[in-house]
Amino acid sequence: MEVVIRPAPELATLAADIVEAAVRADPASVLGLATGSSPLAAYNALVRRHHENGLSFAGCRAFMLDEYVGLPLDHPARYANVIREAFTARVDFRDSKIHGPDANADDLPAACAAYERLIAQSGGVDIQIVGIGADGHIGFNEPGSSLGSRTRLKTLTGQTLADNARFFGGDVSAVPRHCLTQGLATIMSARHVVLLAVGQSKAEAVHQLAEGAVSARWPASVLQHHPHVTALVDEPAASMLELAGYYRETYAAKPPWQRL
Ligand code: GLP
Repeated sequence: MEVVIRPAPELATLAADIVEAAVRADPASVLGLATGSSPLAAYNALVRRHHENGLSFAGCRAFMLDEYVGLPLDHPARYANVIREAFTARVDFRDSKIHGPDANADDLPAACAAYERLIAQSGGVDIQIVGIGADGHIGFNEPGSSLGSRTRLKTLTGQTLADNARFFGGDVSAVPRHCLTQGLATIMSARHVVLLAVGQSKAEAVHQLAEGAVSARWPASVLQHHPHVTALVDEPAASMLELAGYYRETYAAKPPWQRL
């Protein structure tokens, strides 16, 4: 795992650089898109590059990490709507090429299996953007998630319900208790995972991600087994890293030919 500690605006630029390089090399790239506030600045950077430098997503496909169960289709907090507003509708991404687990299906396990099949049929995710929850969740894989999990139903923790109440007018009781999420093994199948973490509230989760024991207690720690993870973290999020000095030296001494 490569840990890059830089100010938040630069992290957004680096994440956008990774996505742009992939899309320019292969206009049919498959992107894994995350919601939450962490990737927003990176999406804004990509939107600017679309308008100013002609970066096109017309040939790309996207898979979302997760979705709340049972929200009305037009609910503004539904992740399918959130990602459209935050990113895809602001560029030339085709709606028909943006996929998420069908969390309104009558048969949720069948919808999860169908989602896994679709990701596989599309050749798998090339670049997966992820945020991280304060409890170390990625997607909605809460503590205790199987490290071998695939897309399935999960119950959100009280902490996550409280964290996400801000998207429901501050009303915790309005946040759905259940969600469908790509599993940890699904996320591990992406070729390159780009994790963004900003702010002090992520410090413990970032420490466990990079330096803790690999454990379902801190689900993101499974990424230690992935061959290509770039963890982009700002100073407050890096504040509990034991090897922060080494990560800084490594990044400062990065050979010019070596990309993220
Ligand atoms: C939600 C999302 C996650 C996201 C997390 C952190 O729980 N399902 O994908 O990583 O929130 O959100 P934020 O980036 O706003 O801190």
